[in-house]
Amino acid sequence: MPVTIKSPREISLMRKAGNILAQVHEELGKSLRPGMSTYEIDRLGEEMIRSFGCEPSFKNYHGYPASICVSVNEEVVHGIPSKKRILKEGDIVSLDAGVIYKGYHSDAARTHGIGEITKEAELLIARTRQCFFEGIAYAEAGRHLHEISRAIGDYAERFGYGVVYDLCGHGIGAHLHEDPEIPNFRQFRRGIRLRPGMTLAVEPMINLGTADVVWMDDDWTVVTEDLQPSAHYENTILITENGPQILTLTSQEIAKGDMDRYLPQKASGQ
Ligand code: MF3
Ligand code: CO
Repeated sequence: MPVTIKSPREISLMRKAGNILAQVHEELGKSLRPGMSTYEIDRLGEEMIRSFGCEPSFKNYHGYPASICVSVNEEVVHGIPSKKRILKEGDIVSLDAGVIYKGYHSDAARTHGIGEITKEAELLIARTRQCFFEGIAYAEAGRHLHEISRAIGDYAERFGYGVVYDLCGHGIGAHLHEDPEIPNFRQFRRGIRLRPGMTLAVEPMINLGTADVVWMDDDWTVVTEDLQPSAHYENTILITENGPQILTLTSQEIAKGDMDRYLPQKASGQ
């Protein structure tokens, strides 16, 4: 399928979808505590998504049974929420969610620590997030897609981390997954040339140990082969004439003050 260029109307719907998803992530992040089940996170998330008049993108997507993917420790992505899975101090938990607003999707993920976590887990989370920013430094109109992929992978490999090869980011819009695929590692092909109006979900998934992953018997949950922890950081971005904008930043992230370059310029009236 060709990579779609979104119209101004589509872009404004995606901004709204992104903004709502950012609020959902912010609230879910604040709600996490030891003793909570991953099922409760899904319930809270789905209720919140629906309270905004949106649909959860993931529910029933190829049969996925929940609204929020909750992946704990060695679980990389697509963990299925369960009443039996109880968060405890020291866990790291990746929350991945998507919303549909008036037919348009947004997709974002964050990894959180529960209470006190190890220094190495903390660094893994921070560097996985930084992988995203290293990548989108190349998300400029006129560059090729592989520059994003290479920057993400090279940054992660500096620390000896395992870059997940088996899962990719993706285009996003009227569908959760559109072309192009966005790998998180060096490519032999240049990939597409980036153009204003493209909307992409860039999502490094980085393992503390081996890059190898396996699928559990539930056909969804992806786990590191060596059972070491994994982190995930994802945003939906828009390519513009003036670099990338991030549509799914939380207000907590924006408040830190270093995200201005990724936000619409006030004067542009967008
Ligand atoms: N953010 C993920 C992705 O982009 C999650 C969706 S898979 C689902 O692939 F099936 F759980 F919806
Ligand atoms: Co995604």
